[in-house]
Formats: sequence, C-alpha cells, structure tokens
Amino acid sequence: MSYQAAGELESIAIKYANEAIRLDSQGSYPQAIMMYQKSIETLMKLINLYPDYKLNQIYTQRAIAYRERIKAIQRARGIGEEAGVEPKDGEGRVETLRANFDDLVLKEKPDVKFDQVIGLSEAKRALEEAIIFPNKRPDLFPLGWPRGILFYGPPGCGKTMLAAATAAEIDAVFLSVDAASIMSKWLGEAEKNVMKLFQQAREIAQQENKAVIIFIDEVDSLFGTRSQEVGGEIRVRNQFLKETDGITEKGKKVPIYILAATNKPWSLDPAFLRRFEKRIFVNLPNEPARKNMFELYTQPLMLDPSVKLEALAKLTEGYTGSDIKDIAQSVQLNVVRELFDSGDALNLGSKPRQITIEDFKNVVKQRRPSVSPEMLKTYIKWSESFKAL
Ligand SMILES: Nc1ncnc2c1ncn2[C@@H]1O[C@H](COP(=O)(O)OP(=O)(O)O)[C@@H](O)[C@H]1O
Ligand SMILES: [Mg+2]
Repeated sequence: MSYQAAGELESIAIKYANEAIRLDSQGSYPQAIMMYQKSIETLMKLINLYPDYKLNQIYTQRAIAYRERIKAIQRARGIGEEAGVEPKDGEGRVETLRANFDDLVLKEKPDVKFDQVIGLSEAKRALEEAIIFPNKRPDLFPLGWPRGILFYGPPGCGKTMLAAATAAEIDAVFLSVDAASIMSKWLGEAEKNVMKLFQQAREIAQQENKAVIIFIDEVDSLFGTRSQEVGGEIRVRNQFLKETDGITEKGKKVPIYILAATNKPWSLDPAFLRRFEKRIFVNLPNEPARKNMFELYTQPLMLDPSVKLEALAKLTEGYTGSDIKDIAQSVQLNVVRELFDSGDALNLGSKPRQITIEDFKNVVKQRRPSVSPEMLKTYIKWSESFKAL
C-alpha cells in the first residue's frame, strides 16, 4: 500500500481497535494483541504520512493506550516484554507523549480552532450556549447549564474536530479518551480509573481554576446496548454514570463538561443517553459548506481556471468532509503520478500540470459517498426522536 488517504486510515485503525477489544474481552489474547498492533501501525502510518494532521495528538494518545494494553496483557500472562510489539515508526514521538498520557491529560492544546470547523452552524450555536457562554460569564446562568453533550452523526463530518476545537476555544484542559482506550488500557482496573479520571478533572478545575473537557470518543463501544458483558463492563459503566451524575447535577458551578461522540447513536443505552441533556446532530455538509471545504483543501493545489468551487460542491452531494479532503488528495496524487511516469519528476523544479475539473470528475466518479442515503435516513429518523439542542 503506497498511499491511503487520512480518513480511510482513520477508519481502518478504529476497526482494528474495536476488533482488538472484542477479542480482548473474550480472552482471546494473542489475537487481541495482533489487532492492537495493527491498529497502532495504522495510527502511526497516519501520523507519519500526515505530520500536520489536526487530530494527530489524539491518535498518538490512542496508539499509546493500545500499546499499554499489549504490555498489560503480556505481563498478566507472564510473557514479558517481547521484541516486535513496539511500534517502530515514530517511536520517539510516542515516548515523549507517554508521560502525558499517564496523567490522562493532553497537555498540549488540540491544534484546531472553532472557525476551522466548516458549516455545522447549529452545532456550534448549541456549543456556544452550553459551554462557551457559561464559561465566560457563569454569573449569567443562575440556573446552571448542561454539562453532558453528545455529538452524533455519520463518520467523517467533524465530531472529533468539534470537540477538540471547543476545548481550544475556551482554553480548557482536554481529557480525551476514546471508549476503546478505556476498555483496552483499563480492562480489569477500569472502574478505578474512571474514578481517577473524574477525580483529576475536579482537581484541575478547582486547583488550577481551569475549565475541563472530558471527551469520550466512539462512546458506543462502551455504552452500546449490545457491548459485551465479559470483563466487568457493567461495573465500569455504572461507575461512569455515577461520576457523570456528580458533575451534571443541577446547580453545580464547577466548570467540567463531558462531551461524547458516536456514529451509532441508536445503539446507545437509554441510561447513558438520559445523562446527555444536549444531543447534537453533526450532519453531512450542505452545498455551501462543501464549497468552503473545497476552498480549504484545494488551497495548496494548482488549479486550472476550469475548476469552479461551486461546481465541485454540486458534484459532491452526500459526501462528508473527510471524503472531500480525500478527493482533493487523490486529485493531486494523480497529477503527481503523471509527472513521475513522464520521468520529469527527477528534474528539480518541474511541476505537475494544473488540475482540471475533469480530474475532479474522474475521482468523484470512482468513489461513492461514504454515507449511503439509507444510512442518512436512519440518522435523521433517530434525530427526530432524540435530538436535543
Ligand atoms: N465540518 C468540517 N470542517 C472541516 N473539516 C472537516 C469537517 N468534517 C470533517 N472534516 C475533515 O475530516 C476529518 C475527519 O473528521 P472527524 O472530526 O474525525 O469526523 P468524525 O469524528 O465525525 O468521524 C477532519 O480531521 C477534517 O480534516
Ligand atoms: Mg471521530
């Protein structure tokens, strides 16, 4: 595999991780280790191929969590530390971030701004009302404000990005764990660690006088009604609900927020859902949003005057933000490949030809939107019953 777009690598990594956790909680440890490793490798590839990818800190954290889990399994089974289980690429980067992970705190602020998230004006409005305004002027909210916020919607539309950007916007400490990491790193000890996570949030909020955002990504793997009940997950979930209640209690003024994200809202346990007073649909980008996305992602590319952003937006009804980024990357790759095939790439200073609208049409023709119309209907239907802005 020589080239794979970021969004694709991301979903592959998530698939491996979920499979690893399934195997892990069934006690199929050697297979689980293999899947964790594949997930780590995919995450490292993503990080190394796209060093300036906005969510890399979050992915690095996950790779570390999976590696920790591999070690924990090996210790428990008396295998010890074997060569070959460590991710080879980007090893240095992992080491330097490791201490941070052990504190569960992403010390560096996520590198993404609120206004870099394109479209989603309804979601942003809801976040302003629930987090940004109360954080700036708590005195204007005598009745308190919602603390539990769920983002749901198709993959690749900006849920993770929006959570990271919200933290950056209010200069909050961002405690980000994906549900897969909770189960993988903490299996067996998960209950205690959930307690520690919230304890730490309270300490930071009180002692450092800073807002804290606890972000649980891919939350359905922890709170899905069909998650396995093997490794004490029920106790973990109950602990989590109890801690959440402690924070979301009306009248509390401690600036701690719990954000969660899922692609599968319908699989969530009602007890979990109840705790999240705001439920925000992060939908596919509409036409103006797609135009803005193309503007952003084609900015570094050399476009022929035939390429009109409006036309690209019209061409991509049903595509996600992540799809649009992938399309821009593929189109560029195609002209670069032509340059290499012609032999000209070896002349320093040679450039690929300008990209035409036909180049875009060809790429779009070859890839279907990653969300099908039926899938979208399912989201909209769920939304009609459960959305809460
Ligand atoms: N609304 C958006 N604005 C800008 N970029 C987006 C948007 N939605 C998706 N993207 C691009 O796709 C990538 C994946 O988005 P992500 O937030 O991980 O989606 P989700 O969490 O909903 O699956 C982002 O890092 C970004 O590059
Ligand atoms: Mg995500």
